[in-house]
Amino acid sequence: MTARVDRAILEFDRALRAVAGLQAAERPSPAAGVQEGELDAATREHAAALMRVNHVGEVCAQALYQGQALTARDERTRASLEQAAREEADHLAWSAARIRELGGRPSLLNPLWYAGSLALGIGAGLLGDRWNLAFLAETEHQVEEHLRGHLERLAPEDARTRAVVEAMRSDEARHRDTAIALGAAELPPPAKLAMRAMAKVMTTVARRV
Ligand SMILES: [Fe+2]
Ligand SMILES: [Fe+2]
Repeated sequence: MTARVDRAILEFDRALRAVAGLQAAERPSPAAGVQEGELDAATREHAAALMRVNHVGEVCAQALYQGQALTARDERTRASLEQAAREEADHLAWSAARIRELGGRPSLLNPLWYAGSLALGIGAGLLGDRWNLAFLAETEHQVEEHLRGHLERLAPEDARTRAVVEAMRSDEARHRDTAIALGAAELPPPAKLAMRAMAKVMTTVARRV
C-alpha cells in the first residue's frame, strides 16, 4: 500500500515537472559543446516553433510511457518502459532548453496534451502488453519520421538544434526496436492512420499555441 502511494506521488511529481518544463536531464544535452550558429530572427523563430512541437511530443511521450508503465503486466516490459521514459525525460529537458535558447516558449496547452496522452497510455496499457507495445512501437516510428522531417527543415547552420533533434531521433528508433523485441503486435492499418491524423492535429496546433 505504502509502495503504491509512493509510486503515485512520484508519478504525480513527474507529471507536474513535465507540464511545467522543469524536467532535469540525466544525460547532458547533445547541444553541449556545439557552437551556436549565426541565425537571423526568422530562422530562430522557425526553429523555436519546430522545437515547441517536439517538446509537446515529449510531454506526450512522458504521459504515454507513464500510463503504460502503470498498466504493464510483465516486469521486464515495465522495466524497459521505465528506461525509455527516463530517456524521454532527457528529450523533454533538452528540447525545453533549446526553445529557451532560441527565445521561444513551450506550448500553453501542455497540461491538455499531457492529460490526453496519459488517458491514451492507460487505455493502450489496458489492452495488454502486446498491444500496449504495438502502440508504442508505432508511436516511436511516427515520431522518428517526424523528427527526420524536421532535420530537413531546420537551417543547416543551426547546429545546436540539429544536434538535439538528431539525438532524439536516434533514441526513438531504439525505443521502437525495444518495443518490437519485447513482443509488440503489428497495429492494423486503420489504427496507424488514426494515430497519424491525431498527430497531425497536435503538431498543427502546437506550432502556433
Ligand atoms: Fe522522445
Ligand atoms: Fe521514444
